[in-house]
Amino acid sequence: MTGYKGRLTYAKGTYVEFVVAPDQEVDFGDILVVEGKNGDRFYIRAHDFKVKSRWSGINGVNYLMSKLDENGQADQEELAFYLGGNHTVKIAMAEQLCYSDAAGSLFNPKTCPDFFCEVRGLDSDDSALLSELKGDLEFGLLKSGRGVISLPVGIYGAKSIPEHMGIFGTTGSGKSNLVKVLASSLLGNGAYGLLIFDVHNEYFQDLIKHPMAQERLSVYNVNPYSPHEMKLGVGFADIEPEDITACASFTEPQMDALYKLSSVWQDQWVSNVLQYDVADIADELAGCTGQKFQSRTLSKIKSVCWNLQQEFKMEPEGPSSVGSILADLRQGKVVLVELKNVSNVGEQALSTLLSRKILQHSAAMGLEEKDQAKPVLIVLEEAHRFLGKKEYTSNNTFAQLVSEARKFNVGLCVVDQQPRLLADKVLSQLNTLFILGLAAKGDRNKLEAMCRKDILQQRNEIKNLDCGEMIVATNYMRFAAPVKVHKLEDYLERWTQEAMPAVSGNAPL
Ligand SMILES: Nc1ncnc2c1ncn2[C@@H]1O[C@H](COP(=O)(O)OP(=O)(O)OP(=O)(O)O)[C@@H](O)[C@H]1O
Ligand SMILES: [Mg+2]
Repeated sequence: MTGYKGRLTYAKGTYVEFVVAPDQEVDFGDILVVEGKNGDRFYIRAHDFKVKSRWSGINGVNYLMSKLDENGQADQEELAFYLGGNHTVKIAMAEQLCYSDAAGSLFNPKTCPDFFCEVRGLDSDDSALLSELKGDLEFGLLKSGRGVISLPVGIYGAKSIPEHMGIFGTTGSGKSNLVKVLASSLLGNGAYGLLIFDVHNEYFQDLIKHPMAQERLSVYNVNPYSPHEMKLGVGFADIEPEDITACASFTEPQMDALYKLSSVWQDQWVSNVLQYDVADIADELAGCTGQKFQSRTLSKIKSVCWNLQQEFKMEPEGPSSVGSILADLRQGKVVLVELKNVSNVGEQALSTLLSRKILQHSAAMGLEEKDQAKPVLIVLEEAHRFLGKKEYTSNNTFAQLVSEARKFNVGLCVVDQQPRLLADKVLSQLNTLFILGLAAKGDRNKLEAMCRKDILQQRNEIKNLDCGEMIVATNYMRFAAPVKVHKLEDYLERWTQEAMPAVSGNAPL
C-alpha cells in the first residue's frame, strides 16, 4: 500500500484523477496521498477506475478485433505487442478528503493539487491524518482495498461518548467482538465508565483476560452463581413509574393510577402496592386525590410490581446496588450487568432503571463534581426493542438519554442488526456510526441517509464488508474510514504483552 502509486492527471474541485503506475495496485476505497509542491499533502480516496488506451476508439477496437481468429482467440505475443508499453493506462478517480499544510495541520479541502503531482500510499509519516484517526480508544487498523495497513484507528472517547454511537451489522458481522474490543480499550484506558447490559452473558469470559480486569471490571447478576459476580440488588425505592411502563403496555387510566401512586406514596409506593389489597389502595387514592380507580386498573399495576419483586428477589429494606454501580462507572470502570437468566420484562425494567439512575445522578451533580466525573457510555444491545419506532415516546428513558444526556457526559451506544427499525430521531442523534456488514439494502439506505458524513461513495465498499470489517464515521473525523477491527484474542494478547514489562518491573528483586 505504501510507496509510489502514480501521477495526478486531472483535478476539479475536490475530484481528482490519477494515472496508476504500471505494476502498482490501487483498489476501491484506498486512501492515498498527493504530494503538493510546498510540503502540503492532499489525502484522497479512490472510488472508481477507468482504463484508457490509444486503441480505445472504434477504429482501434476494430483493428484489434481483426487480429482475433474465429474463436475470439489471438496470438498472445502479437496481442502483447499491441497492448504493451505505454499504450494502455488505468485512471483512478478519487475524491479529496482533507488537506494538511507544510506545518502538519489538517484542514478540510481548501484547494486542489497541481498537474502531475506524485501520488503515494499512506505511511507513518502522515502524522497529521493518523493522529486524528488514532483516538484514545483503539479498535482496529486502517483497511486498504485488499489488506490492512499497520496504522491504528480509534475514537476519542471524550468527544465521541457524549455524542452517542451506533454499531450496526447483520448477525455474525462482528458487533459483539467490536464491543469487546472497545471495552478492552476502555479497561486499559480507565478514563471512561462503560455499562454493558449483557443479554447473553458473553462478555465476562473474554474481558476477564485483560490485565486490568481485576481493578476495573465489575460484574453484577441478579442471581450470582460464581464468585466473580456481585449480587445485583434492587430496592423498592429504586423503582419509578417509568421502569414499570417500560416493561408492559398500559392504558391511560392505568398510567394515571401509576403516577398518582408514586406521587402519593413517594419512595414507598412499590412496597405499599405490594403490601395492601387493591380495595385499600383504591380507597387511599380516592382519599388523597379524589379520583376513583377501578380495581382492574390497580390489579394490573400490582401484578407487574409483583412479577418484578419475584424476579429481582426484592425484600423490604433489601440492599440496592444502584449506588455502587454509579460509583464504579464514574471511577472509569467497566460494569457488566448479566441478564441471561432474566426475563424480557425484567431486562426492560432493569435497563431502564439503571440508565435512568445514571441520567438523574449526572443531572444532579454540582459543577465541581461534574468536572471530576468520567464520561459514561451505556451499551444497549438489540436496541430496537427499546428505541424502535413504536417504543420511542417522550417518557421513554432511552429516548430522554439520547436527546439530553450529552449535557451530562453520558452517551448511549446502540447495537442492532436492523438500523431501519430504530426511530429516526434516535438515528439522527448518533454522531459516531460503526457500520459493519449489512445484508439488507433498506438498512444500508437508512444509514446512508442518516450518517453525518457522506458515505454514498462508499456504497460498494459497505456492500462488500466481510466479518470484522467496517466503516467508521464520527463527527470530528473528516471522512468515514474503512477499518479492520482487531480480533479480540489478538488484541488482548497485545495488551498482555504490553503489561508484562510493567508487571516484571514492579516485581521485587
Ligand atoms: N474483527 C474480527 N476479526 C476476526 N474475527 C472476527 C472479528 N469480528 C468477529 N469475528 C468472528 O466472527 C464471529 C461472529 O462475531 P460476533 O459474535 O461478534 O458477531 P455479532 O455481530 O455479534 O453476531 P450476533 O448478531 O449474532 O450477535 C465470531 O466467531 C468472531 O470470532
Ligand atoms: Mg453479538
